[in-house]
Amino acid sequence: MTKNAIILGTGSYLPENCVSNDDLSKRVDTSDEWIFTRSGIRNRHIASDDQATSDLALNAANKALNAAGVNADDLGGIIVATTTPDLTFPSTAAILQEKLGVTSQCMAFDVQAVCSGFVYALATANGFFKSGMSKPVLVIGAEKMSSILDWNDRTTCVLFGDGAGAVVLGASDDTNTGIISTHLHADGRHAEMLCTNGGASSNKQVGALTMQGKEVFKFAVAAMASAVVEALEENDMTPADIDWLVPHQANIRIIEATAKKLNMPMDQVVTTLENQGNTSAASIPLALDHAISNGDIKRGQTLLLEAMGGGFTWGSALIRY
Ligand code: ACO
Repeated sequence: MTKNAIILGTGSYLPENCVSNDDLSKRVDTSDEWIFTRSGIRNRHIASDDQATSDLALNAANKALNAAGVNADDLGGIIVATTTPDLTFPSTAAILQEKLGVTSQCMAFDVQAVCSGFVYALATANGFFKSGMSKPVLVIGAEKMSSILDWNDRTTCVLFGDGAGAVVLGASDDTNTGIISTHLHADGRHAEMLCTNGGASSNKQVGALTMQGKEVFKFAVAAMASAVVEALEENDMTPADIDWLVPHQANIRIIEATAKKLNMPMDQVVTTLENQGNTSAASIPLALDHAISNGDIKRGQTLLLEAMGGGFTWGSALIRY
């Protein structure tokens, strides 16, 4: 029987080590002024050497399970969106399942869509509810981006950070609440514009992130805008029906351009990138948990999540919280 996926609880985690733009300027030829003006970023959190992505995910997951009042052993599944898995295999979700102490043998798998990963994972989880899933599902975006950065490349290393955000989804019979619709896209012709130069079956390396910043910027502005317009049109809504835009946190200028396209004031847009940087798949659930925890996002409000990332991938999710 078809169910709707509703958000029961959220949680997030940022590593202790906070690195400022000034700290980075001691390492590469850059400045707080350049980074902040071009991206809106001032600080990012960097995981320690002995913290893997599953450890970041574990902290966020425990908080989300606690907020949802759900026992890990009662989960019907664990989906982790990440582009920085602990290992090539098994999945970070399977490793996390063990760390959470889950013995129920629920499904666990990773989703790889880079910065759009969390929206892809939400859509995937929603599909399980649509086909009758009745148990809660843990959906996480978790990244240790610091492990795939070239720390001598000032054009990329200043933009990213580490962290994890989690939501626990539950089943509801009310079709007017929870995840209303999701919209996913990809265009692999642009893969080289944003990628790593390594992989298990190519050169047996993890590789480092490379990016053609200007081209990514242009594509991101267009893709994010089209993803939000698509979500609104498909639901017969206008921007006035949206209480909060929760965008992927890549660059404040991209976020502002999307808000402008929607004619939405920036005080209805959740922004966390100033102190987190771009945490890839973790950025949307981190932003969501931030705005829910501080009381900005309230029950009953309508949220529009949108993301764009390597692939290229992009997409949106319309949620009644
Ligand atoms: N500090 C100081 N100077 C720098 C730095 C730095 N960290 N990085 C580059 N520069 C220099 C460049 O070398 C260049 O110098 P030149 O003119 O002498 O050649 C100058 O600054 C301008 O560089 P541009 O690349 O033209 O700067 P731009 O205004 O395009 O901003 C940026 C660069 C911030 C990367 C922007 O293009 C951007 O945000 N792009 C999108 C990035 C993004 O969102 N990526 C994530 C996508 S999500 C995912 O899937 C990972």
